[in-house]
Amino acid sequence: MSIHSVKHSEDQLLVQDSYLLEWKDIKYSVIHKDKETNILKGVSGYANSGEILAIMGTSGSGKTSLLSILSNRLFSQSHVKVSGTVTLNQNEIHTFHSNHYIKYVLQENFLFGTQTVRESLTFACRLKVPYLTKTQVNERVDDILDHLRLTKVADNIIGNSMRKGLSGGEQKRVSIGNELISYPNVMILDEPTSGLDSFTSQHLIEVLQAQAHLGRTIIFTIHQPNSKMFSMFDRFILMSEGNFLYQGKTSEVVKYFSDIGYKCPYEINPPEYFMRIFHIENRHHMSEEEKEILDICSYHYKKTLKKYMIPQTEGLTEIDIKKGLHTASISTEFKVLIQRSIINVKRQPMLSVIKIVQAIVMSSLVALIFNNLGHDKKSIQSITGALFFNSINYIAFPTQGEALTFPLERPVFLTEYKEDLYGIIPYFLTKVICEIPFQIIFTIIYSLVMYFAIPYNTYNASKFFIFFGISLLAQISGNALGYLVGSLTSSIQLAVVIGPSMMISLLAFGGFFSNTNSLSSAFYWIRYISNYNFTYRALIINQFTDFDFNNENDNPIELLNFQGEIWENVGSLLLVTFGMMLIAVINLKISGEYHKRR
Ligand SMILES: Nc1ncnc2c1ncn2[C@@H]1O[C@H](COP(=O)(O)OP(=O)(O)O)[C@@H](O)[C@H]1O
Ligand SMILES: [Mg+2]
Repeated sequence: MSIHSVKHSEDQLLVQDSYLLEWKDIKYSVIHKDKETNILKGVSGYANSGEILAIMGTSGSGKTSLLSILSNRLFSQSHVKVSGTVTLNQNEIHTFHSNHYIKYVLQENFLFGTQTVRESLTFACRLKVPYLTKTQVNERVDDILDHLRLTKVADNIIGNSMRKGLSGGEQKRVSIGNELISYPNVMILDEPTSGLDSFTSQHLIEVLQAQAHLGRTIIFTIHQPNSKMFSMFDRFILMSEGNFLYQGKTSEVVKYFSDIGYKCPYEINPPEYFMRIFHIENRHHMSEEEKEILDICSYHYKKTLKKYMIPQTEGLTEIDIKKGLHTASISTEFKVLIQRSIINVKRQPMLSVIKIVQAIVMSSLVALIFNNLGHDKKSIQSITGALFFNSINYIAFPTQGEALTFPLERPVFLTEYKEDLYGIIPYFLTKVICEIPFQIIFTIIYSLVMYFAIPYNTYNASKFFIFFGISLLAQISGNALGYLVGSLTSSIQLAVVIGPSMMISLLAFGGFFSNTNSLSSAFYWIRYISNYNFTYRALIINQFTDFDFNNENDNPIELLNFQGEIWENVGSLLLVTFGMMLIAVINLKISGEYHKRR
């Protein structure tokens, strides 16, 4: 037992119960163009509590697929077939909320980069273990920090592609902590050491070993363990092309292969030897002789070793199959998500500054271009132009802003949604609500500059406030369009193509130009969903109704054929905005559900 686990022997994380994860005859195949490819070819095995089970194998041999099946994340669908059974303490994992007991840590870390380690764990704890009090949450977070040796960096920012933060090993431990926080019995990790150097990997395995010593079942895949790490594994599985070549005690693997004629030379680290003889690195360039080695080992496994793969089933803890899933209430989800968003804004002050500078620069620019305005024909044309620019500024910036940032956040959302951390509605509303204060600040600055730049219709004081309201709503609609783009893709490269294409279409076919009737009627409908169209119309009607024209014939409302009530346009803008948000939510839901089944 390691020093670490002795220190925690009286620990809350200690698992007193005995759990056995067992799988039998797992087959997995993918159907593509009527051709079925077998990825897992009927593998059986088990993992005990208190032990580390490490799975090593050729890339593409089906390790990740196996782990996904063991953690109840991969099901039969139209193009994939899964068969066989997975049980936890002899209860099939589909028949109860196995999520309680089994947690999965993905190969990639999907962490919210602007949070600190402690905030990330607290976030996970409040959503995953919602019945804890605030003090209990803090205690548990401290406990996890201690166990994962993260206390020193507890208040450091995690970091992301824009901002440097934790090291790879620390980030991985945070990902593990986010799962460990609910004190699961079984932890399954896909290549937890990938991308880490040998020293860091070893450290990580030690942390996992401490968890096994506390009574957890730890299962992971691993690429190239050094001999020290290798010796820490209790059990070991060697995989190739959807089959097992070895399963059993790590301490016996060398003897086993030696007995069937593959003796590992003394000076070579056993995993390295297996990689060599089974061509684990480079399976596409196997010679006939090497294929034969594989066949022989596969034959031996099936004929001899497999028979002894019978786990101990006495004294297993009874599973409470009625236990429901702990989910936080919607209000808790809101609270936790809003707190995270506020932190996110606070930690990126430059983004807020940029938005304010943007408001000043863009409004000043419009004011500079269209200055010295009166009530004559030319001035009225200029005001019309200024309002047109305003409509673009209100909508294009938020759209582009969201299209650039939302795809970055989307993978985190998909992962958290898959973990049932929160629902789509609290997530989405939080996003919308947290943007509004910025939009109000932007609109105040922008509207004030405009107020002094163009001769407002002063007939009615409420006009200014209506202008303000339209501006604000237009920005929200810009954001909605950005969400729509971001909900479609996690790739920024793609988003910056889709976003402007949509914006230009909505603008070009928005019905601003007198000759739009000559456009193909196939695009005519776009004006009815164009947020630019409704914004511009509303602004023009607001500005020029009861305006003091030098010559009544200059009235843009007549010239542009913008008859109608202001409220009709505001109402339409509201509807379009709502529609865009709804599509974004539906897209997210579909992506989320699809992601859940992968
Ligand atoms: N849903 C899927 N559709 C198509 N191919 C898949 C699917 N799932 C797995 N595969 C294929 O199965 C093989 C094994 O995949 P995987 O389990 O990820 O292997 P490993 O983790 O060992 O590298 C790969 O060739 C992969 O492309
Ligand atoms: Mg994999």
